[in-house]
Amino acid sequence: MRNVQLAGKTVPLIGQGTWRMGEDSQRREQEIAALRLGLEMGLSLIDTAEMYAEGGAETLVGQALRGVSEPYCLVSKVYPQHASRQGVVSACERSLRRLGVDRLDLYLLHWPGSHPLEETLEGFETLRASGKIGAWGLSNFDLGDLADADLSNCAAQQVLYNPQARGIEYDLLPWAQQRRMPIMAYCPIAQGGRFLEHPALQAIAVRHRVTPAEVCLAWVIRSTGVIAIPKAVDPVHVRLNARAATLELDSEDLARLDQAFPPPTRKQRLKMV
Ligand SMILES: NC(=O)c1ccc[n+]([C@@H]2O[C@H](COP(=O)([O-])OP(=O)(O)OC[C@H]3O[C@@H](n4cnc5c(N)ncnc54)[C@H](OP(=O)(O)O)[C@@H]3O)[C@@H](O)[C@H]2O)c1
Repeated sequence: MRNVQLAGKTVPLIGQGTWRMGEDSQRREQEIAALRLGLEMGLSLIDTAEMYAEGGAETLVGQALRGVSEPYCLVSKVYPQHASRQGVVSACERSLRRLGVDRLDLYLLHWPGSHPLEETLEGFETLRASGKIGAWGLSNFDLGDLADADLSNCAAQQVLYNPQARGIEYDLLPWAQQRRMPIMAYCPIAQGGRFLEHPALQAIAVRHRVTPAEVCLAWVIRSTGVIAIPKAVDPVHVRLNARAATLELDSEDLARLDQAFPPPTRKQRLKMV
């Protein structure tokens, strides 16, 4: 599996998302099994958030990690409404309890909120100094949201990125690459479903004897410093997502995707879900 440095750890270019996990007790065993399968397949980066199932996803991730020896890389996110100087510390401690761990590798502010960013960053630095987090980062921040912030310790940005949402290529992606700040691409397969039936994705998938989802993931991680965090509960999906890290798209594939999903030629507002 190809790797990148994130928050001081070596992580795979494809990780595991957990949004919508932990919401339904009937799916619990399947979700835990999916995360464990992903870990076995080398998808050792897990992304979660206090928002997901209102803590339920973190509890589920904690169960999936029980008995698993490191190395894995654990990322969670704080709600903007909890992101005051002290609130961020308390929220992190709650997340740690749910996850059953002493430390998060990376803690992100989920999206811009009303607490001044500098206060949130002070809270993050307190957590870092106490060892409760290894590093901090941001999510859903456009360049305009970052104007005066001291980002010298910002370890990552997590944003929406897939072939039909390429806006970050215009400004945010080169900005992050210049700073060697990894981008964690969320919704890397545009939440699956009908999007994967797009003729361009299908044609490239046939050419390489893979699936359209793998094409999508290989496309997302083609740029330096971009990590994809697909969420998958179906074990077939988990295996395919792990395999996608070995797919190399060539210039013909990339040109075809550029034609189907043109790159941005001017500033676009950062998309969010
Ligand atoms: N920071 C943020 O604001 C933010 C926002 C959204 C998401 N995220 C993070 O990013 C992660 C990924 O985003 P997402 O979950 O919204 O969307 P996604 O990963 O693009 O898509 C997930 C959907 O695709 C399906 N799928 C997964 N692998 C597949 C494959 N190989 N072939 C076909 N279908 C496949 C999944 O089905 P099954 O589950 O049935 O396998 C699920 O329905 C989230 O889980 C979360 O951790 C962060």
